[in-house]
Amino acid sequence: MINKKIEIRKEIESDYADVYELNKAAFGQESESKLVELLRKSNAFIPEFSLVAVTNNKIVGHIIFTKIIIKDDNGNEFESLALAPMAVTPELQKRGIGGKLIRYGFNKARELGYKSVIVLGHEHYYPKFGFKPANKWKIKAPFDVPKNVFMGIELVENGLTGVTGTVHYPEEFEMI
Ligand SMILES: CC(C)(COP(=O)(O)OP(=O)(O)OC[C@H]1O[C@@H](n2cnc3c(N)ncnc32)[C@H](O)[C@@H]1OP(=O)(O)O)[C@@H](O)C(=O)NCCC(=O)NCCS
Repeated sequence: MINKKIEIRKEIESDYADVYELNKAAFGQESESKLVELLRKSNAFIPEFSLVAVTNNKIVGHIIFTKIIIKDDNGNEFESLALAPMAVTPELQKRGIGGKLIRYGFNKARELGYKSVIVLGHEHYYPKFGFKPANKWKIKAPFDVPKNVFMGIELVENGLTGVTGTVHYPEEFEMI
């Protein structure tokens, strides 16, 4: 179900404190809140890809995509995006807000010329939006992870054709 009263927009500086609290509430810990703070300062950060869901002037959802590189064994490098983290306020989960953030993010990514997104996350959630296990393209995580939770999606037809290798995340992901 998509809540029509939810607006998705680019995050601005005055949202930062609310986004911190939102991630803390959704994850039940502060690691993801701290990660978002680090990612905003990263070279991999693209302001258009930190998005908030707003209703009644209140931030109820957040998603961030950052730049990643997929490197194959021959030294070829492919640019993609990592979706991480995302959060919806606990009281409003399972009402379509997360889906709205994902789809808005995909459209923005297409607009800016990106062809794919990689995610590490719930194996029953992300496939609802078209994600498939990344081993379909022989794309690997830089660490050991069950194959069904490491996923990719083509934002355009054949967006991952010929793309294979290991994902290199922004170093900020290792700082938390
Ligand atoms: C994961 C999260 C962002 C999803 O946001 P949301 O607004 O609740 O998701 P949606 O309402 O768009 O969900 C769409 C569908 O996925 C289902 N779904 C939601 N969360 C799910 C989960 N964790 N696992 C499996 N399915 C899930 C919904 O029931 C809904 O199913 P339907 O379309 O069949 O009705 C939110 O639950 C959250 O903040 N969780 C805590 C933080 C977290 O785990 N973040 C993701 C890290 S990978």
